[in-house]
Amino acid sequence: MRVLLFTGKGGVGKTTIAAATAVRSARAGKRTLVMSTDPAHSLGDSFEIEIGSEPALIEPNLWAEQIDAQDRLEGNWREIQDYFIQLMNWAGTETIQAEELTVIPGLDEIFALIDVKTHVESGAYDMLVVDCAPTAETLRLLSLPEVMNWYIERIFPVERRVVKAVRPIVSKMTTLPIAGDQVFGAIERLHRNLEAVKQILTDEKVSSVRLVVNPEKMVISEARRTYTYLGLFGYRVDAVIVNRVLPPDVTDPYFGKWKDIQSEHLATIHESFEPVPILEARLFDREMVGVTLLDEMGDEVYGDLDATSVLYRDDPIRVRKKGTGYILSMRLPFVSRDDMDIHRRGEELFVRVGSYKRNLVLPQTLKRMTVRGAAFEGDHLEIAFGREPRPGETDDPAPQRKKRKERRRDG
Ligand SMILES: Nc1ncnc2c1ncn2[C@@H]1O[C@H](COP(=O)(O)OP(=O)(O)OP(=O)(O)O)[C@@H](O)[C@H]1O
Ligand SMILES: [Mg+2]
Repeated sequence: MRVLLFTGKGGVGKTTIAAATAVRSARAGKRTLVMSTDPAHSLGDSFEIEIGSEPALIEPNLWAEQIDAQDRLEGNWREIQDYFIQLMNWAGTETIQAEELTVIPGLDEIFALIDVKTHVESGAYDMLVVDCAPTAETLRLLSLPEVMNWYIERIFPVERRVVKAVRPIVSKMTTLPIAGDQVFGAIERLHRNLEAVKQILTDEKVSSVRLVVNPEKMVISEARRTYTYLGLFGYRVDAVIVNRVLPPDVTDPYFGKWKDIQSEHLATIHESFEPVPILEARLFDREMVGVTLLDEMGDEVYGDLDATSVLYRDDPIRVRKKGTGYILSMRLPFVSRDDMDIHRRGEELFVRVGSYKRNLVLPQTLKRMTVRGAAFEGDHLEIAFGREPRPGETDDPAPQRKKRKERRRDG
């Protein structure tokens, strides 16, 4: 089973390349489902047929699905939403407004991703190709399970116990709606589903992200940011696809300047993403819609490569032994030290890059150690962990001296 996610800035050609990859995979004999989580469904336009919210057969081995967000919302969120609505009505918010308030932006896409889990578990396909919403949306949606996990694992069990204890009292005293067991049940189910989705999407043997770009300044900047954030959340990029490259046979002087601009941007793309493979697709002389042209697009992008294989083994987070301590290394390219901060609290490590945060629960080996420092090695952030030296013990002379000095000062 393989899952390929395609993402990139709006309009770069994500849907087209996802569809082309699916056609190629199906024609190589893999049972392939291409699905879109983007509410602006254009998969149907790409294949030039109507596509609904259940997998529809397009040609042998190829199915397509445009997830109906509303439908998935009903299935996963209704009970939780009903409770919110009750709560808001109680607080005096009109029902209509309450309905609107409980539609959290991006939530529909999270529910769309639960389909990934359903399809992986069904075993009905060898290959899932996911056409994601543009960059920022996808990122938020990819980080949501982690955020939600944090909440659910820490607060939820306590809350549930409290609610159990106070429900009989509170219901006598006020009309405040107290969440019933079915609400907690629904939240737990949702949590389990999202956890499973995250497991699948961060499993290096199963899932890869392919970044689609155009040789344009802003598109590249955004892709670099996306690449960093994906690394931060443990998702693996196995290829960057540069779409709409002007082909050599375009000799019209009008495009001469454009070709120079593009070749400069192509150089930047190579500097930015290598050793991740960089694939190219030229700007065709027509819109690439319908299976025949999509097949041509697949040949253009992948050439002799097997589009379904893992094209590059990326390794965003690693732990290795160094001396008496350990180094936790995280792939965070394009980040300068000023953009980020790191701090340790209990068994957790908080890493912030720009506005994105990661709350990493430390691996067992690192839990009893302290952070000694952090430095960049190429595009990896290396965080050094060491054992707290016992009094009188020397493992690293420098901090030891400092310790003694502090002790002298203190005492
Ligand atoms: N290399 C190419 N040559 C010619 N036309 C292309 C090429 N790549 C994409 N197109 C065309 O550009 C249009 C937009 O592409 P597509 O819908 O795949 O972009 P997208 O990134 O999915 O956009 P959105 O962000 O809106 O979802 C489509 O009509 C598609 O056929
Ligand atoms: Mg699209």
